[in-house]
Amino acid sequence: MRTHYCASLRASHIDETVTLCGWVDRRRDHGGVVFIDLRDRTGIVQIVSDPERTPESYPDADSLRNEYVVQITGRVSQRPEDSLNPKLPTGEIEIYAQQITILNGVRKQLPFQVSVTDTEQVKEELRLQYRYLDLRRERMRKNLSLRHQVIKTIRRFLEDQENFLEVETPILTRSTPEGARDYLVPSRVNPGEWYALPQSPQLFKQLLMVSGADRYYQIARCFRDEDLRADRQPEFTQLDMEMSFLSLDEILDLNERLVCQLFKTVQNKDLPRPFPRLTYAEAMEKYGTDRPDTRFGLELVDVSAIVADCGFKVFSGAVKSGGIVKVLPIPDGDNISNVRIKPGGDLFKEASIAGAKGIAYIRVREGGEIDTIGAIKDNLSDEQKQQLLEATQAQPGTLLLFGAGDTDTVNKTLDRLRQVIGHQMGLIDPEQINLLWITEFPMFEWNADEKRLEAIHHPFTAPHPEDIDDLANARAQAYDLVYNGVEIGGGSLRIYQRDIQEKVFATIGLPLEEAYRQFGFLLDAFEYGTPPHGGIAYGLDRFVMLLAGEDSIRNVIAFPKTQQASCLLTDAPASVNAKQLAELKIASLAEEDEE
Ligand code: AMO
Repeated sequence: MRTHYCASLRASHIDETVTLCGWVDRRRDHGGVVFIDLRDRTGIVQIVSDPERTPESYPDADSLRNEYVVQITGRVSQRPEDSLNPKLPTGEIEIYAQQITILNGVRKQLPFQVSVTDTEQVKEELRLQYRYLDLRRERMRKNLSLRHQVIKTIRRFLEDQENFLEVETPILTRSTPEGARDYLVPSRVNPGEWYALPQSPQLFKQLLMVSGADRYYQIARCFRDEDLRADRQPEFTQLDMEMSFLSLDEILDLNERLVCQLFKTVQNKDLPRPFPRLTYAEAMEKYGTDRPDTRFGLELVDVSAIVADCGFKVFSGAVKSGGIVKVLPIPDGDNISNVRIKPGGDLFKEASIAGAKGIAYIRVREGGEIDTIGAIKDNLSDEQKQQLLEATQAQPGTLLLFGAGDTDTVNKTLDRLRQVIGHQMGLIDPEQINLLWITEFPMFEWNADEKRLEAIHHPFTAPHPEDIDDLANARAQAYDLVYNGVEIGGGSLRIYQRDIQEKVFATIGLPLEEAYRQFGFLLDAFEYGTPPHGGIAYGLDRFVMLLAGEDSIRNVIAFPKTQQASCLLTDAPASVNAKQLAELKIASLAEEDEE
């Protein structure tokens, strides 16, 4: 039906007769001459029809409306000098239409204009409800093809260069240990029993290592019933990998080469290797978070030791009760007014969201004089003031924002303030790409509700060999990849020796029988010759979101769900009929409540 795609035409095609198929992006009438932007998956080309030069197509051109589906045959011509469009790849040419066939019209009012400029805003609900129209738009077409290109590059690299094997793992399975809530599927043939949709292919990829797959990957769909945010979906896609007989350094090196190949292919950018590494402890110390945006400085300084005995009770009290005092030093901080820091101010609000009761601050003046609200100034000795200025490398004009309290809240508060201020002060170069590994995560964290340690990553993560004798405080051989402040991937070396695995279960208070009930098939498999192995999974949607410069993963997923985990296009989730439920031997409490 066609000879070319719209956006493939160039000046080299001039004088050729071509046939194109696509949608009418816009139709404009300029004094009796009809201009049509014809669109297909590749982009747009301009069609012209007028009663004099193309009398055979003019009546049809005149009757076209936006989003009609048409087939157009015409002659490629040079555009006149004054109508060249350097913004369009096809902007040098236009096509004089000899024949226009309307393949299909539009019978309903369009819910929004498909052809929009960036300034035109369409509500996201409407875009999701009519996603097939939304996907016709340039931005979404570009995002989907970027996603495709990313996946294609991954496949080429892993398969052709690195000898990975792609294996599919089950979707109907048992609960996996990623720590979110499961999506459950009832079994009709085993009434009362349930499958869980995988939160990740974690257990299967480890079994594949036992089976000798050596290097596995999968573009894997994962399901997690958790609170949704701009960078979280209930079903999302991982690039999932697992490798045998590779050291941690070798795994990171292979992954760096993969990531560099991706940036080279999709953005033609060369990234320096090796990527910087920061231990978890260093990241928390300097940035208050394990996924720091290192495109700008504003590093935090722990001043607990300096103020531990000062007269200002907020500081000394925090240290005495086991907490910390940290500073976010802001050079040229004079343009941040006191009003913004005090109750009611925007920075105060940010700090409260993170759990802080307020922000203490000091302004440094010429000659090292400090200026602040009374209580701090009067309760610091000259020596303490001097030490503070030195530790924070404060200069005249520096603003010191303090967090004091329990470590977690202080870090959360200053991380939040650091990010807000970094953005507001324009310290971030949007072109910059900072990738870094965070390593040596702790193995466990304290779950205050359940009063027990729990695995931060998952219970199959291998502890650092130096820390085996004190597992409760051990570092894990785990790593996350952080891209401009977003965690895009994470993984670890795994435990492959039974005695260490049992110690880990004991440390998280998981009785062996219970561990066997949950993961017996894996633990059994480990008895039959398990190679040392490790792996990683990337949040593919997040990665593509960042590459596309989008701020929500919904914009890089063809059919995403809303924050309420529903699909506005198909109206899922939806109720099912009583017969289906009866077959599954399920009764809905929700329905009973409504009755
Ligand atoms: P983890 O749970 O860290 O590791 O997940 C890996 C990456 O998946 C992305 N991600 C998400 N993306 C969108 N929506 C979500 N709800 C969501 N949850 C996670 C993140 C994250 O870095 N099995 C381990 C990996 C391993 O150890 O090999 C795992 O799943 O970008």
